[in-house]
Amino acid sequence: MKVLFAVWELPPFFKVGGLGDVARALPADLIMMGVDIAVVMPFYKAVRFGEINKKHIRTFHCIYNGKEEKVDIYKALHPLNNFPCFFLKNSIYLDVVIDQDTWPFFNKAIIEAIKGNFLSFTPDIIHCNDVHTGMLPLLIKEEKLPIKSLLTIHNLAHQGRVSKDVLSKLGINQEKGSILAWERETKQLNLLMEGIIHADVVTTVSPTYAREIMTEEYGIGLDEILRGKEGRVFGILNGINITRYLKHDSGKKCDFVRSRMDHPDQIAANLSYYLSKKKENKKLLQKKLGFEEKDDIPLTCFVGRFDAFQKGLDILHRMIRNLDLENHQFVILGSGNVDWEARFEWFNKFYPQNVYCNFTFNEGLAHEIYESSDFIVIPSKFEPCGLIQMLAMFFGTIPIAHHTGGLIDSIKNNHNGFLFEKYTSESLEHVYRKAIDLRLHDRKTYDVMIMAALTADFSWKKSAAEYIALYEKLCSGEY
Ligand code: GLC
Repeated sequence: MKVLFAVWELPPFFKVGGLGDVARALPADLIMMGVDIAVVMPFYKAVRFGEINKKHIRTFHCIYNGKEEKVDIYKALHPLNNFPCFFLKNSIYLDVVIDQDTWPFFNKAIIEAIKGNFLSFTPDIIHCNDVHTGMLPLLIKEEKLPIKSLLTIHNLAHQGRVSKDVLSKLGINQEKGSILAWERETKQLNLLMEGIIHADVVTTVSPTYAREIMTEEYGIGLDEILRGKEGRVFGILNGINITRYLKHDSGKKCDFVRSRMDHPDQIAANLSYYLSKKKENKKLLQKKLGFEEKDDIPLTCFVGRFDAFQKGLDILHRMIRNLDLENHQFVILGSGNVDWEARFEWFNKFYPQNVYCNFTFNEGLAHEIYESSDFIVIPSKFEPCGLIQMLAMFFGTIPIAHHTGGLIDSIKNNHNGFLFEKYTSESLEHVYRKAIDLRLHDRKTYDVMIMAALTADFSWKKSAAEYIALYEKLCSGEY
């Protein structure tokens, strides 16, 4: 079974967010489990190879907008388990992301590369990911290729509306595009919707989110289309690959000393050791951030994109405003919406000993924060899966999260974390207070929760097996 995994980001070459984490971890596990998998992505100007060897394997031409475009194919082996990666280079459409044409062109180039056998890899399945690969299922049908398509939705909020002209640029009859009745005037093509309609199977990154997107509340205009696909929409929870979190260099201050080999019994037997490590880390981080170095002040972190629509910045901000900050410490790491950055910066300015904000994407600091905080707050309005709760729990940091999407599927309320039901700052504050109370007044129960968080299994194995089962069904013609 040959699977081509098409995606727009893959670290260490190029990374923007959680999708990149999946693009690295899932193929790495699948190849270990016997799937013949390769990844294809654009070769942007920003792509970096570092020490990794890349090879130019071919140049070909792809017709887009009636013109012949030169595409160069490069190949490299990914440092994690050596899965092959193909990079498609074109100086007009793929150097930097251009709104209208980058994704359709990328999709067309993939199809042409397969048709010409330029990759020397003929897939049985193309595993598409998000809007960036939304035109692939229709292109496969148009070309009548014997290839099945699976589309994974990592975030329904990014749909990619482009002009309908894109269809003719791709050489597809304009009538083939499914323009929503109310968008006829603007003649907009919705790239993600095209993917959903034409893919043989659609998956999303948690079972709860798979159910949620069928509803008006979470469907962002596509719930009816998704309901029409019922029976072919599945939710498979992401995992985390923690190999790279275990490489501690001796110079590093925070060092939780965990190993993926740690067995639950081992953790149980050494819980006091883990707890003391956590305490030490917390002290170091408090010092580094200029906070009072006290263990009984709760240290809570927020790590994530500053996306005002998704990440719950409004209710978090309001909750922090309501607190008597002298008795709380918050560390906020993330960048994005500048208005929200400015609002959080206000806390930083007036309460520098209690609120630290860093508006950059700093992976190193993020790890120190996961390893050292007592709690991680994830107030997302919606969350397809979310990875930070898993990472934080791996280091014994207790999540306080909104009862939504993948957060429900990965956090057991009152067992290894806390979930708040209503998307309001009161509801968040209520559960936050419950959590810090437990830590201060019932240390025994709190430590049992840390133990449960430390031993939760978020490895990719189970999810990878579910993808393989779907791939097999696709190949046997069940879908
Ligand atoms: C998107 C989603 C996030 C998910 C990630 C990987 O970033 O917002 O919830 O964990 O994709 O699937």
